[in-house]
Amino acid sequence: MFASTAIVTTLLCFFSLHPSFGQECTSRQEIQSSLKQIQKFLSAHEASYLQVLRNLKKKINLLQSNTLKQTTKVINSTCTKLDAPLNGRKLGKSHSVGHEVHFLCDPGFELMGSESRICQESLTWSGQQPTCRDVNECVSSPCLNGGTCMDEVNQFSCVCAKGWAGTTCQSPVPTFFVTMTNTSAATSTVNTAAAATLPAATAGPFVRPSRCTIVQGTTHCTCEPGYTISGRDSNTCTDIDECELFHNGQAGRLCLHACVNTPGGYRCSCPAGYNVTRDGRSCKDIDECATRQNNCTKDQMCINTYGGFQCVRVDCPKIPNATYVKTSPMRCERNPCPVENKLCSQTPNTFSYHYLAVVSNLSAPRVMFRVSALRPMGDTLRFALLGGRLARRHFTVQRSERLTGQLMLVSPVQGPATVEAEVEMSELERRVQLGRYITKITMFVSQYEF
Ligand SMILES: *[C@@H]1O[C@H](CO)[C@@H](O)[C@H](O)[C@H]1NC(C)=O
Ligand SMILES: *[C@@H]1O[C@H](CO)[C@@H](O)[C@H](O)[C@H]1NC(C)=O
Ligand SMILES: *[C@@H]1O[C@H](CO)[C@@H](O)[C@H](O)[C@H]1NC(C)=O
Ligand SMILES: *[C@@H]1O[C@H](CO)[C@@H](O)[C@H](O)[C@H]1NC(C)=O
Ligand SMILES: *[C@@H]1O[C@H](CO)[C@@H](O)[C@H](O)[C@H]1NC(C)=O
Ligand SMILES: *[C@@H]1O[C@H](CO)[C@@H](O)[C@H](O)[C@H]1NC(C)=O
Repeated sequence: MFASTAIVTTLLCFFSLHPSFGQECTSRQEIQSSLKQIQKFLSAHEASYLQVLRNLKKKINLLQSNTLKQTTKVINSTCTKLDAPLNGRKLGKSHSVGHEVHFLCDPGFELMGSESRICQESLTWSGQQPTCRDVNECVSSPCLNGGTCMDEVNQFSCVCAKGWAGTTCQSPVPTFFVTMTNTSAATSTVNTAAAATLPAATAGPFVRPSRCTIVQGTTHCTCEPGYTISGRDSNTCTDIDECELFHNGQAGRLCLHACVNTPGGYRCSCPAGYNVTRDGRSCKDIDECATRQNNCTKDQMCINTYGGFQCVRVDCPKIPNATYVKTSPMRCERNPCPVENKLCSQTPNTFSYHYLAVVSNLSAPRVMFRVSALRPMGDTLRFALLGGRLARRHFTVQRSERLTGQLMLVSPVQGPATVEAEVEMSELERRVQLGRYITKITMFVSQYEF
């Protein structure tokens, strides 16, 4: 108590030595005696701290050796050996306390019970011994179109409803079976109706004779895939019109564009300017610009569009009191203005041209184009939409970042159509215009949504 008071007094004295305190400090001798007291006080504390530290160290050592002893004891103890489940595996060989084993099942089986078990201090395993159960593949209803699923080990099979085939009954190319009773017990294969015996009107690639087999007095008649049994005696096969049958099928349409029925099958067709894709069902745009299927002249640029192409040519605008020169195929820059020509400095500094090819009925809203200032000039940057009524109906311009404006499509455009829009970017410094930059965007909208 005395010591701490001394410290405070002395420190006060030291701090008061600063002239701004305007206080006289106690004599030099007084300071010296105070310092001595502080020293005493500190050494007493030092000794007591050292003692505490020594005690702590002792306690830690004791704890450490106890823990070591315990660990040694633990490591020595093991749980009983565990077996892998039937049709499964066990991961982890150690059966010591604290160790874990994991269980896996072979493909086609699912684990029931504990996925992992721990050897506990009581030398027993946590959890339940797992088993591997045959997965019922039919649970996910893999058979389509009314097919019945049969579960087998690691697989399934489908018994398809009439008119469907394939491993999951996905295929719309059915084979029909017809059963007729016949008292004759002979077994033979006959073509019940040769093409020549059919009436001329029904003969052709869409009508064929059926193939019948008589087994123990029962006649089974079959048709090739894509045909269905018809006729009074099941002796003819008639082509199935898949295009008609699957016009608005549950599984979606057969073709992206048009379906053409063929004898025993169908094929998809695409409009001019598209090729049928590899899967035979969709249409892919032909790039006429890349394949020289275009007739654009040398001074024109070819723009590939969906289903066609466009030949475009950039001509710099003619504006009074300003001259523009083409600095690249898609850009015009104004020549420097004479100082005295005020009208000239009000005209746009540059015109840039961009061409977009899009499909019909593109969903909106969406960003179609971005215009950015490379470096900030002036204190204000403005973006505006120029252009006619059509442009205003389908577009707006909004700022997306400090130096960027974006042209947004706000309502879908039905093709075929060509829509033009102009984005104006202007830089100002204290409301005085420093520059104007025009970007002309031409959007070629195709006739189809692909
Ligand atoms: C550990 O097991 C061995 C034999 O497996 C035995 O000799 C030893 O005494 C055991 N130690 C302890 C601490 O139980
Ligand atoms: C049964 O089959 C025989 C031999 O193919 C045929 O001659 C006979 O007309 C058939 N009978 C009937 C009722 O279809
Ligand atoms: C498109 O199909 C035609 C024939 O149908 C073929 O000559 C042409 O190479 C195809 N084009 C592309 C780009 O695949
Ligand atoms: C290019 O061909 C199209 C028809 O495919 C025709 O309408 C057009 O006039 C032609 N253009 C030129 C520049 O020859
Ligand atoms: C604009 O150009 C015309 C000639 O093309 C000239 O007579 C007129 O003075 C110019 N205007 C200005 C403001 O420089
Ligand atoms: C445009 O697309 C929407 C769905 O995205 C559709 O509902 C609408 O019928 C389409 N319009 C036309 C004309 O195809």
